[in-house]
Amino acid sequence: MNEYFKTLNLLPTSRVIKEMRKYAENNKVPIINDETLLFFLHLIDLMKPKKMLEIGTAIGFCAISIATYDGDILIDSIEKNETLFSLAVNNVRKAKLDDRINLFLGDAAELELEKLNPEYDIIFIDGAKAQYVNYFERYEKLLSEEGVIISDNLLFHGFVNNKKIIESRNLLHLVEKIEAYNSYLARNRNFDTKFFGIDDGIAISRRKK
Ligand SMILES: C[S@@+](CC[C@H](N)C(=O)[O-])C[C@H]1O[C@@H](n2cnc3c(N)ncnc32)[C@H](O)[C@@H]1O
Repeated sequence: MNEYFKTLNLLPTSRVIKEMRKYAENNKVPIINDETLLFFLHLIDLMKPKKMLEIGTAIGFCAISIATYDGDILIDSIEKNETLFSLAVNNVRKAKLDDRINLFLGDAAELELEKLNPEYDIIFIDGAKAQYVNYFERYEKLLSEEGVIISDNLLFHGFVNNKKIIESRNLLHLVEKIEAYNSYLARNRNFDTKFFGIDDGIAISRRKK
């Protein structure tokens, strides 16, 4: 984020949030960027969502930041890595948000949908980038009528739409998958999607009426 705006924008904070930021930095755990989080908070102000689903909890930074900002929202979040899941459970407990943040250990590509809520106002896709189409098709069924799906990292560190700078075959494959997802969103006739160059690139998709 622009350094000047950083001094003007207030992000949710608490002792647990500060500890999580430090942990993520020291241990290279990817968490939501500040500007993307601000975009979320603004959306929350406008939408007043009741329920949100997050795919990819990591240590719970995004879920805890959002639930700290909005005292009413209920968040379900799925994480497949056991170590990160345990850290997230601990952080949610420390933040005293266990009554509003529900964590699920498992692969979002396989988790039984019956365990989740049928009507999410926001679904945040932030898991394995190569699986985004799969997540979208699986979870759009759980979106409320006015709900939105937010997808993160669609520019993937500037590699998307800039493949000539990629040297590794694995990275190339991943970037191609993200490009395919972006095209999938742009062409999806059931959803209207807007793409934003905020931080690592996000999209917001709303079901067409
Ligand atoms: C970018 S991090 C999530 C950061 C988190 N949303 C935040 O902003 O604080 C992505 C997480 O998704 C998890 N993940 C990847 N594939 C997954 C899957 N299929 N199901 C559940 N979690 C997954 C990874 O283990 C990782 O912790």
